[in-house]
Amino acid sequence: MFSCIRGKERTFRNLVNGEWLSSESGKFIEIYSPIGENCLVGKVPAMTKEEVDQSIKSAKIAQNEWRNVPVSKRADILYKAADILVEKLDDIADIMMREIGKDRKSSESEILRSADYIRFTADTAKNLSGESIPGDSFPGFKRNKISIVTREPLGVVLAISPFNYPINLAASKIAPAIVAGNSVVLKPATQGSLCGLYLAKVFEQAGAPAGVLNTITGRGSDIGDYIVTHPEIDFINFTGSTDVGTKISRITAMVPLLMELGGKDAAIVLKDADLDLAASNIVAGAYSYSGQRCTAVKRILVVNEVADKLVEKVKEKVEKLKVGNPLEEDVDIVPLIDERSADFVWELIDEAREKGAHLLVGGKRDGNMIYPTLFDNVTTDMRLAWEEPFGPVLPIIRVKDKDEAIEIANKSEYGLQSSVFTENINEAFYVADRLEVGTVQVNNKTERGPDHFPFSGVKASGIGTQGIRYSIEAMSRPKATVINIVR
Ligand code: NAP
Ligand code: G3H
Repeated sequence: MFSCIRGKERTFRNLVNGEWLSSESGKFIEIYSPIGENCLVGKVPAMTKEEVDQSIKSAKIAQNEWRNVPVSKRADILYKAADILVEKLDDIADIMMREIGKDRKSSESEILRSADYIRFTADTAKNLSGESIPGDSFPGFKRNKISIVTREPLGVVLAISPFNYPINLAASKIAPAIVAGNSVVLKPATQGSLCGLYLAKVFEQAGAPAGVLNTITGRGSDIGDYIVTHPEIDFINFTGSTDVGTKISRITAMVPLLMELGGKDAAIVLKDADLDLAASNIVAGAYSYSGQRCTAVKRILVVNEVADKLVEKVKEKVEKLKVGNPLEEDVDIVPLIDERSADFVWELIDEAREKGAHLLVGGKRDGNMIYPTLFDNVTTDMRLAWEEPFGPVLPIIRVKDKDEAIEIANKSEYGLQSSVFTENINEAFYVADRLEVGTVQVNNKTERGPDHFPFSGVKASGIGTQGIRYSIEAMSRPKATVINIVR
């Protein structure tokens, strides 16, 4: 089992052209656990620009052959990778808990879900087909032209993943990219890179040929700009904050982007909602992994008629959440990823308190542990009404009716998901139709899965659509070969 580092045995290496390379410059980044005694869990190379070049070059070269490998053979590697991931469940869950402080149950379910994702990706790729389009359906053309449309890989895919799902949000980029015939360079979040490197090992052991999957470690603030503007990168699949995503879209040119960014998902509760169902979904949606999920419920918009009743039910559940160290016990609320993130959440809490929001639960902090916090009577002049905390704090905004709820929901810069709780199907459609988001959940918390559904954000929440088939399509392009029949 994984524990605090002693000696050099936990110095990780990068996968480059099928070899595990240490830092040439001798520079490493130390990864400390966000939980318990904050012990050192590993060190990763702080790659130099030259090392980055080597990783990307190896992907470029390998892709020339990989694109010609039959899809069924690429899929076989994915099936094997999924099996290995399941075999290594305990080891990887252990690292994940220590590296990013996720509780055991969520860590295990992330890994198993990733194995399912990889298998489903292989199945989907084998069942994709092209199309043939007759020319004569367009005015002025005869029956002598036919377009055969096949899919081509894009080349080298740069996959940049965030800290909060270090296996799943890396696997959900790597698997669709390589099954489509691309090679991949994975740059995991620094806090999360131990998991990312383990995942690379899984694909290597599954038989991914040298260079098809490569890794880069190093701080995004040091090498990020260099990687994303690298001339050999053909596609960028990024998940992370809106700030970094926006910067990448500003400094890159002529490189297609698939981006899943921040959110401020609203749970809209109407007067005819099942309030018990709404309350349990809202609490699970807002506080799991301490709210460090893009799709966490990040605000409640409840109509006045049922607000008091809903607030009471939500409060009761939040008070029961268990806070602690996931290595020691089964807990709902874990310490945040670092002190800086906790400082930010604390700022939002302080400001809401100062401006007169009614603190119902929490409002307590111990280092990077923020206790589950619930505010009622949050108003739209408070930062908490608009900003994404990525922490366990939930604002309740009372509204007069569904239209005011829609108006406030849509005023957000974000547009990832929203929930609407109502037992009236007409009301559900009324609200869903007007919300500016990628997904509306009717009578459920906001969430990404099942992973073959389309998942996308509008406005500041992203560009393009993920989801198994959608991701394969995003990382390949249609190619038309036109047959002209000479009669
Ligand atoms: P982040 O700080 O934006 O980091 C994301 C990734 O970008 C990391 O690998 C990071 O590397 C890298 N990076 C940083 N600066 C870069 C640069 N200049 N160029 C290229 N890459 C750079 O986000 P996070 O804190 O890991 O994750 C939390 C955020 O992600 C939240 O806003 C959340 O909503 C969002 N998120 C969205 C989704 C979604 O599907 N919509 C899913 C998960 C998370 P370093 O770690 O080395 O800095
Ligand atoms: O953090 C963002 C993830 O994509 C959310 O996935 O809804 O399954 O927690 P989830």
